[in-house]
Amino acid sequence: MNQLKLFLPCAAGVEDFLAQEVHGLTGLAGDDLMASRGGVFVRGSWRDAMKLNLHCRLAQRVLVELAHAPYRSENDLYAIASGVAWEIWFTPRQTFKIETTAQHSPLQSLNFATLRIKDAIADRFRAKAGGVRPSIETQWPDCRVFAHLTTDSCTLYIDTSGEPLFKRGWRQDKGDAPLKETLAAAMLAASGWWNPETGAVSDQPLYDPCCGSGTIAIEAAQIAARIPAGALRRFGFEKLLPFQPHVWEALQNDAMPAPAAAAAPVIYGSDVAHRMVDFAERNAERAGVAAHIEFRGGDALQRMPPAAGGVIVLNPPYGERIEVAGVAGTARFGARESAQTEAGSGEEGNAFFPQLASHWKKNYAGWTAWVLTPDLQLPKRMRLKESRRVPMWNGPIECRLFRFDMVAGSARTKQP
Ligand SMILES: C[S@@+](CC[C@H](N)C(=O)[O-])C[C@H]1O[C@@H](n2cnc3c(N)ncnc32)[C@H](O)[C@@H]1O
Repeated sequence: MNQLKLFLPCAAGVEDFLAQEVHGLTGLAGDDLMASRGGVFVRGSWRDAMKLNLHCRLAQRVLVELAHAPYRSENDLYAIASGVAWEIWFTPRQTFKIETTAQHSPLQSLNFATLRIKDAIADRFRAKAGGVRPSIETQWPDCRVFAHLTTDSCTLYIDTSGEPLFKRGWRQDKGDAPLKETLAAAMLAASGWWNPETGAVSDQPLYDPCCGSGTIAIEAAQIAARIPAGALRRFGFEKLLPFQPHVWEALQNDAMPAPAAAAAPVIYGSDVAHRMVDFAERNAERAGVAAHIEFRGGDALQRMPPAAGGVIVLNPPYGERIEVAGVAGTARFGARESAQTEAGSGEEGNAFFPQLASHWKKNYAGWTAWVLTPDLQLPKRMRLKESRRVPMWNGPIECRLFRFDMVAGSARTKQP
């Protein structure tokens, strides 16, 4: 178990940050660590796999590659899956699930491809374990197998994470459009507030004025307090055969946050919806960071800066699920109309963003704002010139993280 081929999938645009994070956590580099489109390949130990699950904030999962071979038909997939020693990983009394993804596969049906892989696994167990075979369980399987098909190659993985890693274990209260924790961490990395390689955080205050259920603030506070991303959850590897509880316990003990070495930065969140502020407070409590964050109610267009300067990181309301509320949502345009014009990105009628820009220019001199949006015209709409634009994907939605610098003593923003 010392030289496993691991693959850590992540959102497109996040690969380099994830490679830095993996390097910082494991020390792996060179041929043992390679960023690729949609994830990072790692050559590491079983202990590394557990450690990455516990600490990684940017990866969606930690997968172990068990086979990589060319294929042309479903029968080839059967042969490839038959050749994997599944019995090293789980027993025929456990349940499993197969998830298949494909890019330009010539096969007609992914369901049939999945079925053939399942048959191969079941037949191999039956042959090796006196006729006993593991059953399929689609909702809460003991182990998950991932198959990825390209035009001509098939890769089979066993998953060590279980539930995807963005589920940190603290979220029970959520709004309509909570940000994935992994994406919140990616925004913090891209903003430079968090260095994913060293784990260091900026000493600048951090503020999310549309905090919803608090994801960005909570993620930031856990990073600053050195609380492992997966401290509150269980992992798939705990049910796999190579699992050794004493090694895992030692890893968890090593990860206990050190007593606050330096003064932690102050983190603020606010939202126009008081219900969301309640959710955020309860989530922060469960995440163990309630003492590090100050949540308030209030309209982003009216709230004054919580500190003399700092970093704003937010994903503002956009699209059909989340409407602008507060002054811009109800003043000239009905809230629904406002949300629709936003979703449609029409020039007219969208009062929120120009007003937010004016408010920032007037009151937030000395602050840097990072705004995640699918609206590539947002700087134009805000009449602000961005100093950075970082491509990021929010699930299937292509977004940009725009940086705006609010300069003291000027209603204009700094040019790059
Ligand atoms: C896309 S959601 C943010 C989700 C959040 N990042 C999370 O993970 O839960 C946008 C949030 O903006 C809030 N909002 C809408 N209009 C606002 C305004 N004028 N001022 C402050 N917050 C507002 C909504 O209540 C919603 O919680």
